[in-house]
Amino acid sequence: MAAHCAQPRIYVALDSARQARIEALLDQLDPSLCGIKIGKEAFTSLGPMAVDMARQRGFPVFLDLKFHDIPNTVHQACRAAADLGVSLVNVHASGGRRMLAAAREAIAPGSEAPGLIAVTVLTSMEDADLAEVGVTDGAARQVARLAGLVAGEGLDGVVCSPREAAEMRHVFPGEEGVIVTPGVRPAGSAPDDQRRVLTPAAAIQVGASSLVIGRPITAAPSPGEALREIVATL
Ligand code: C5P
Repeated sequence: MAAHCAQPRIYVALDSARQARIEALLDQLDPSLCGIKIGKEAFTSLGPMAVDMARQRGFPVFLDLKFHDIPNTVHQACRAAADLGVSLVNVHASGGRRMLAAAREAIAPGSEAPGLIAVTVLTSMEDADLAEVGVTDGAARQVARLAGLVAGEGLDGVVCSPREAAEMRHVFPGEEGVIVTPGVRPAGSAPDDQRRVLTPAAAIQVGASSLVIGRPITAAPSPGEALREIVATL
């Protein structure tokens, strides 16, 4: 039995709280070429309607709400997310083993089930930031430690930077492993506020299974054309 439903190669991050903006972008993208990442911005403003707008047009949806709470609450939140019909759900690995187990129990593996992945260490956190919250042996060690916990509880994979993708591939091997990387930029495009970017093809080559791409598509003069150009490089 497959551990989760099929994942698109690209999730486009809409990163807007405005319904009209989201609908305009959805209407320019081809659901056979990508899924849509709905994050805290859109979900806080528009609620499940944001998910429905994408699903009604045929897009798989990555609901990027990074749940982090007591096990019972995360269990119910994961169940509610799965009931929305999304394809990918995430939680914070630092919620601990029992919280991860509760998430896995809420979203039992299966070919119809959404993928269930975890964030290890936010890439905005550097070693000094981690030390301030009591993690004194650095981001790399913490990523490895948390990824082990995530795999141990049977989750499907992680969200990570392309820099970590190769290492994460060893923890979540094969076609079942879901390694989702933001921080990708087509050759020659603006890095915006991203650092240490890889091209989409390079990110896949080092182990990513799905890419999260925002502004190179959403801020392009023709988002549909920008998406097609990226897909052609893969
Ligand atoms: O516009 P851009 O391609 O940079 O958008 C990337 C998306 O991935 C945004 O939704 C951003 O919040 C998300 N993200 C990221 N880096 C991380 C985690 C998430 O860029 N480490």
